Amino acid sequence: IRPVGILGTGKYVPERVLTNKDLEQMVDTNDEWITSRTGIKERRIAAEHEATSDLAYHASMEALRNAGISADDLDLIIVATITPDMAFPSTACILQEKLGAKKAAAFDLAAACSGFIYSLANASNFIAMGTYKHVLVVGAECLSRITDYTDRNTCVLFGDGAGAVVLGEVPEGRGFKSFELGSDGSGGELLKLAAGGSRNPASAETIENKQHYIHMEGREVFKFAVRIMGSAADEALRKAGCTKEDIDFLVPHQANIRIIQAALQRLELDEDKCIINLPFYGNASAASIPLALAEANENGRLREGDTVLLVGFGGGLTWGASVLVW
Ligand code: ACO
Repeated sequence: IRPVGILGTGKYVPERVLTNKDLEQMVDTNDEWITSRTGIKERRIAAEHEATSDLAYHASMEALRNAGISADDLDLIIVATITPDMAFPSTACILQEKLGAKKAAAFDLAAACSGFIYSLANASNFIAMGTYKHVLVVGAECLSRITDYTDRNTCVLFGDGAGAVVLGEVPEGRGFKSFELGSDGSGGELLKLAAGGSRNPASAETIENKQHYIHMEGREVFKFAVRIMGSAADEALRKAGCTKEDIDFLVPHQANIRIIQAALQRLELDEDKCIINLPFYGNASAASIPLALAEANENGRLREGDTVLLVGFGGGLTWGASVLVW
């Protein structure tokens, strides 16, 4: 079993900024409510010509540069997303073509906001076993395309963006120390996009009923998130043979500042040990953790040897956590 870690990171967010003030013009809400209840100040919105693979492309190019390898060196591309360009071909295949990664296999992974951690676990197994040398893992979303901008319960939360990492073999002692993944399909109704699949194909009725937009039971998801962030983190630490005291940085899924604060409290960590970019991007689902990782790497916040805990949760319901020595 080879030690596997992150060789390079990259990110991309669309230029257009949608602020809380802008939302005040669109629905019955205000900056004070959004800031105090969620911690979000603004989010990015993809341009009309941009789709998920475009955001993924820019983030991936940066990750390849940062890792010092070329697209030709990639053996596999995994894209975690709930907003693929289309049902098929996969966004990973579309990305493969854009990158010119001719030798790479490619597939999408659907685990909602936990998708990036699920994808890391998949990718690292391929490398640990010696099947592949370099795997590109991307979390990319255009959630604005499935957000109902007349629903104040959801439209203040979501944003667009992409983060990417290149995984490969690292020196002994570094890299991923554990993965903890889980799911609870009984909570599927709490967070879903109901139509456009084989159960409810797109029709005039599904459009009329707004079934092509995110449906979310906010309070229930909130309770689940607080509970699962704690237990998933505990389990990932236990598997890695670590304790809370070993954590140098927490990189949580960026959904709500109150959920992050609850996780910090549970882990007895100060906020300065947490990578938080939620105020600027809102919840970008599968893109949120790799965006935060890429920014922390860019800013030099993560140092070689740091113990980093990644924790996410999302639709499915799903959750994932990982301990990584940077
Ligand atoms: N502006 C003003 N008022 C609002 C807004 C808004 N944007 N949204 C809701 N309200 C109102 C509600 O209507 C409600 O009014 P009522 O009491 O008259 O019914 C009141 O504010 C309080 O609503 P709550 O839902 O209790 O507010 P809460 O404090 O729970 O915050 C929130 C809502 C922010 C959605 C929170 O529940 C949350 O963050 N949940 C988790 C969401 C999440 O993490 N989703 C992950 C998605 S992951 C994925 O896979 C995509």
